Amino acid sequence: MKKQVAVLISGRGSNLQSLIDAARAPDFPARIVLVISNREDAAGLQRAKTAGIAACIVSHRGKTREAFDAEMDAALRAAGAELVCLAGFMRILSDGFVRGWEGRLLNIHPSLLPDFKGTRVHERVLEAGVSHSGASVHFVVPELDAGPVVAQEKVPVHPGDTPESLAARVLAVEHRLYPAALRLVAEGKVRLEKGFAVLAD
Ligand code: GRF
Repeated sequence: MKKQVAVLISGRGSNLQSLIDAARAPDFPARIVLVISNREDAAGLQRAKTAGIAACIVSHRGKTREAFDAEMDAALRAAGAELVCLAGFMRILSDGFVRGWEGRLLNIHPSLLPDFKGTRVHERVLEAGVSHSGASVHFVVPELDAGPVVAQEKVPVHPGDTPESLAARVLAVEHRLYPAALRLVAEGKVRLEKGFAVLAD
């Protein structure tokens, strides 16, 4: 049985697209049943529509974080979601929501975690002068970008890189890493146990 997956977005949705494309393979263990955007102008909503996937807008405006999260939670449960993928979702989730989806909530971050958590990642990587960056998919825990890593891949930083050129190189890796990580979790090969990402026996 394929796992029912929901994807949360706020913008462009290129990672959503990589998941949509991967999920077309008959042997992919997950099916995208819902896309939620907190912004009505997110380009990713069109990607969902084109793919024939149910999509809805849950705006964060004018409500508390808890109320916003409760609305998303209700939409996720109504759609029968079993796993949730954050893909360029730009809101911080409440502890209650994160705990409610513990072990079933993934995020992609454009750095080699635990390095460079947070925002302005590529700018900060270049400022630091490191030779490598990367992409990471991790289980979401209440602390931002701090959850156990499911999969990650190194990406070289080239001399003369700009935040844009580095972002593009990292993004190309993100697009294969997220489907691969989702596959591992959906197949039960990696799971969250006592705060660690563990491989199944
Ligand atoms: C990606 O770089 C992702 O790692 C980060 O935000 C960006 C989203 O891009 N969290 P997209 O909306 O998936 O194109």
